Amino acid sequence: MWLNYKSTFLIIVLMWLKCVKPWSYNPLCLVQECCNDDYIINDIKGLYSTIKSKIYGQHLVEVAIDAISSHIHFKPPKPLTLSFHGWAGSGKNYVSSFIVDHLYKRGFKSNYIHNFIGRIHFPEDSHAKQYKDNLYSWLKGNLTSCSRQLFIFDEVHLMPPSVLNAVKPLIDYRTNVDKIDYTQAIFIFLSNTGATLVNERYNELWSKGIQREDMKLSHFDSLISKGAFNEEGGFHFSDTIRANLIDHYIPFLPMQVNHVIDCIKDQFRERGVASPQQTHIDEILEYIEWAPADTKLYSKTGCKRISSLVAVAVAKHYRHTQKREL
Ligand SMILES: *[C@@H]1O[C@H](CO)[C@@H](O)[C@H](O)[C@H]1NC(C)=O
Repeated sequence: MWLNYKSTFLIIVLMWLKCVKPWSYNPLCLVQECCNDDYIINDIKGLYSTIKSKIYGQHLVEVAIDAISSHIHFKPPKPLTLSFHGWAGSGKNYVSSFIVDHLYKRGFKSNYIHNFIGRIHFPEDSHAKQYKDNLYSWLKGNLTSCSRQLFIFDEVHLMPPSVLNAVKPLIDYRTNVDKIDYTQAIFIFLSNTGATLVNERYNELWSKGIQREDMKLSHFDSLISKGAFNEEGGFHFSDTIRANLIDHYIPFLPMQVNHVIDCIKDQFRERGVASPQQTHIDEILEYIEWAPADTKLYSKTGCKRISSLVAVAVAKHYRHTQKREL
């Protein structure tokens, strides 16, 4: 009997599936996100190169990427927990979004990415107990369906203390809780906790003549042991910190003028202006406030707002000249 073209097509698809995928492959995964390598792409090489080209002056971030790479490639004994510390505009969110985009094909749209924002998801101190219970059951529920999940907690300093205690039983060293595999999960915490001390230490090292690129994680380690990262806010009295369950604390260094200029140029490039004139760069720099009062070593707001400042500059110029290129 002759096969019509529909069933021929079906047979070809099935044969292709058998060749390239194991028999257990669920055909639904062709159209919807599944917990497999097709959707969890773990493009570590791409991640390294994006961070190198898009993040200015934060060489210590490479430690975080090394940790992620090792977590993915070797059977981890526990979930990976990273804590990013720095002032607004130092690149914490930027780095996390690159991590999301390079580990998950669907980026932030992936069902395996969870982005909790302190002020939005956990606003009321009086509801802390409820938040904590919800969070615990969400984490468990999600990790039951797929163990390769990424949880980002933003603005940890604005979360009611104790909410994060929900995380502790999951990131502890026990490999199986209720037969759920937690070990492959990644947790990233973002906050400005301890950032002022990071900046002070940076200043101190700088004045001793240590170049930024030569600064090591160990230069900032003593801040952690002194409890600097346990000041008021979501980590305060948190079991997570007390039990030393954070694998790596990554300080985001304050941005100096050359880094801010790199950010400005990058934003111009994003808007199709390949080589902005110095006067246009200077115009943007005038908006930036510098600290500390005496040395004016770094920008108080890092690279925050630069994108909107550049957007306005480009639009204004375009309005005057009807020309795209500055
Ligand atoms: C997974 O986490 C989200 C929050 O990111 C939550 O809304 C959802 O209910 C969780 N799923 C399960 C099965 O618990």
